[in-house]
Amino acid sequence: MATGNPWSKGLGGHESIAGGLLRHLAVVVVSIAAIRLLYTIVKSVHGYRELWESNADGRLLAFLCSIAKDYEPGNNLYQYLLIGPRAYHILHPKNVEALLSTNFRDYGFGCRPAVFAPLLGNGIFAQEGAAWKHSRELLRKQFTRAQYQNLRHFTSTLRAGVDQAAENREFAESFNVAQEGLAKRFRLAPFHFFYNSASFHKACRIVHRFVERYIREQGLMENGQLLHGEKAVDSASWFIRQVAAESATETDLRDQLLNVLLAGRDTTACCLSWTFRLLVRHPQALERLRREVKSVMGDLSSPTREQIRRTPFLGCVVNESLRLYPPVPLNNREAVKTTILPTGGGPDGSSPILVRKGELVVFSQYVNSRRKNIFGADADEFQRERWETGELDKIGWAYFPFIGGPRQCLGEDFVLMEVSYTTVRLLQQYRTIELPEGEPNEPVGTERQKLTLVFSSADGCRVTVRRGRQSEAEG
Ligand code: HEM
Repeated sequence: MATGNPWSKGLGGHESIAGGLLRHLAVVVVSIAAIRLLYTIVKSVHGYRELWESNADGRLLAFLCSIAKDYEPGNNLYQYLLIGPRAYHILHPKNVEALLSTNFRDYGFGCRPAVFAPLLGNGIFAQEGAAWKHSRELLRKQFTRAQYQNLRHFTSTLRAGVDQAAENREFAESFNVAQEGLAKRFRLAPFHFFYNSASFHKACRIVHRFVERYIREQGLMENGQLLHGEKAVDSASWFIRQVAAESATETDLRDQLLNVLLAGRDTTACCLSWTFRLLVRHPQALERLRREVKSVMGDLSSPTREQIRRTPFLGCVVNESLRLYPPVPLNNREAVKTTILPTGGGPDGSSPILVRKGELVVFSQYVNSRRKNIFGADADEFQRERWETGELDKIGWAYFPFIGGPRQCLGEDFVLMEVSYTTVRLLQQYRTIELPEGEPNEPVGTERQKLTLVFSSADGCRVTVRRGRQSEAEG
């Protein structure tokens, strides 16, 4: 019956025309999809090449800033066209707050634990969930205690940095190699396993052996077991004994100590060297700082916490240095469930945007704290006085060198005091600190940079110093 039905025939006739059209359409759609795929691949490869080349040239962060500038004035977020999951780079403070604080539970580290494992094992930087909470609580207690100590312990840290014994040198060099390896693996994620060089693994082994030897020398081991409580020898520092008391094995203790070392060593060194790099290029700021230090501390050579708190201009200098050169400049998170970023979507870029499970959200302290629509036309300049006017008192998530939210840096107070103390002592110790003759004085942000997990100047931080007390400089 159906075959004799004119409708059916008619439909059949229509079907054949429609079928032809559909086939045609399908070919066009497939061709467009193929062209788009090809375009995406070409752009991806091109994008990767640009990233790779700018990184090799020491200008990756400047490259990211230049992309972000194309997104002014909405300036909310942009999307990387890379192979792998879609990655949003967030620029708006609301999105940063959602990622790191309000919607914290929607994101995780993705493959970071596997990337970091060869060096950092099971320490706070690779942990999530209950294990992270345990480590955080354990370390937080030690940092709270450090706030009540006097500042003399910074002196020994300073000396240790200067008189680095030969036996420590192998460790320090291996730690550098291992960290550079981690940074390469981090950039390759999720293909991190491609970077597995023998020199990287050798460096990790040397670092592990060094820390294990240190633990034994502190009298924290007996018959291959970690000593706890009363049994732990008093010679070990309070910090290490406390961490040891809550670690099950020597490997756990080693991992915790290494993670804190990673957190604190290069970040502090980067902050100090960028600060002095800026100061010698801005002698007026340096002179004003000298005057402030002299007026608060006189000739005293061991500044106290209270005195340091009475040097507001020093605070402005450090804030501005961390704004222009945040030691941890770039990072990311992976959505563990489908979620939203509050802004950046829709035609005018102000609607929420969907982030699917498995997609990446990239954030950069470096890029975000140079935004002209927040910091003004002079955002790229070392304008330390901007912190004096009170306009930036409620800057919130537009400035986050220590991030914020549940995973906020545990060392923030400690390091701000350490950097301030060291700056004061260097100013007191050297009557002249200046830019060496012939040293380039390029605009801020145009110098070549070396990016690992932190970032430093690729050409170092050279300064000329002359010994002599500050008072001699004025006399
Ligand atoms: C200027 C110097 C420093 C800067 C800019 C800085 C910045 C940061 C940032 C951005 C994070 C978050 C990293 C992430 O998202 O995974 C972090 C975490 C952390 N920082 Fe710092 N840091 C500094 C110095 C220190 C120091 C000196 C210590 C300790 C001695 C320290 C201890 C930690 C710890 C333990 C964490 C992990 C917190 C957690 O995951 O819960 N930091 N820091």
